Amino acid sequence: MQTAARVTHLPPYLFLSLDQMVQRERARGRDIINLGIGDPDMPSAPDAVIALQQTVNDPETHRYPEALGSKRFRKAITDRYHARFGVDLDPETQVISLIGSKEGIAHLTWAYAEPGDLVLVPDPAYPVYRAQAEFTGATVYPLPLLPENHFLPNLGTLDPSILVRSKLLWLNYPNNPTGAVAPRAFYEEAVSLCRQYDILLCSDLAYADIGFGGYRPESVLSIPGADEVAIELYSLSKSFNMTGWRIAAAVGMRSAVLALGQVKSYLDSGPFTAIQNAAVAVLDTEPDAFIRGLNTIYEKRLNLALREIRAMGLLGEVPRSTFYVWFRTPPGMSSAAAASFFVQAAGVALTPGSAYGVYGEGWLRLSLTVPFVTLEDALMRMRQALSHRDNR
Ligand SMILES: Cc1ncc(COP(=O)(O)O)c(C=O)c1O
Repeated sequence: MQTAARVTHLPPYLFLSLDQMVQRERARGRDIINLGIGDPDMPSAPDAVIALQQTVNDPETHRYPEALGSKRFRKAITDRYHARFGVDLDPETQVISLIGSKEGIAHLTWAYAEPGDLVLVPDPAYPVYRAQAEFTGATVYPLPLLPENHFLPNLGTLDPSILVRSKLLWLNYPNNPTGAVAPRAFYEEAVSLCRQYDILLCSDLAYADIGFGGYRPESVLSIPGADEVAIELYSLSKSFNMTGWRIAAAVGMRSAVLALGQVKSYLDSGPFTAIQNAAVAVLDTEPDAFIRGLNTIYEKRLNLALREIRAMGLLGEVPRSTFYVWFRTPPGMSSAAAASFFVQAAGVALTPGSAYGVYGEGWLRLSLTVPFVTLEDALMRMRQALSHRDNR
């Protein structure tokens, strides 16, 4: 039976293809180190695990969750925003629970975009923004992220004829895949532009708590007046090693929270209440101590990766957040050719930059979500593979 065009035209989900390729090579007996997928390798915050074990015994948690999320969850998110970003939110009207931020990306797009609209999507980017815009029949207008502009879109050059047709602007800082971060002045410019052209600013803050060298990511909602035009996605996935739990929140602009709730009420009933309770336990008990430990581990891995990639002559910008290193392909190789070279010659899987958009061509993404010794082994193999190639 023929699937809908929106499915037929969808490229295979990047990480699924990557995973299948790794499985295929492993089935052939090859030892592959997978640095392609950004899924934390360490266990979830212990407070979450303990709280879930306790709360799941309460039959109250077994019923349909509250539409916008439990009061306790919304309050915990509000408290987190106050403590972490200095942002005050109303838990009743400015917070909604999500089954992960990926779910929020999808349903925000469904709440606003329609055929004829433009959706402003960075390139390279997490592929879900584009796919969801295309699902709705809207047109994606790519915003190139270039190294010479520190991987920030050049908003000042957008033509008013484009802006008047634009419904959503997606921003994702700290940025996957480039590791770039947004200075406050950039957020100010984005808020002011979205106000002027009545565009919903969607900020995907998936890497909210990861930072190196003392860097701490900011929230776009800390810009005065931003909550009249912006909605932000805050996820527990990366901050607390909870990708499998599927728990996040959308916060900020009241009418966008409401619209998202309307769409969701016809699609899902929100995250399992026991998981919301576990999230509350994490957010309420010293979350920063856990995050400091996490960042120390990632930073150690990062320094190792930077040293080795620099020695290979491929280093681009040094990331201040995320757990990715975005680096150049070896001279003369496309992203796909380089990714395939490192699998074949080194047994190391990386993500080809071109999978994130045309402006990702010429780049590779390495994920720091493997233990230090595994990373050390992978980088040594990559270096050896390159030097064999150069000596041929
Ligand atoms: C930029 C970005 N946004 C969203 C997500 C999805 O996060 P969640 O687990 O909260 O759905 C990811 C996951 O890799 C991501 O990189």
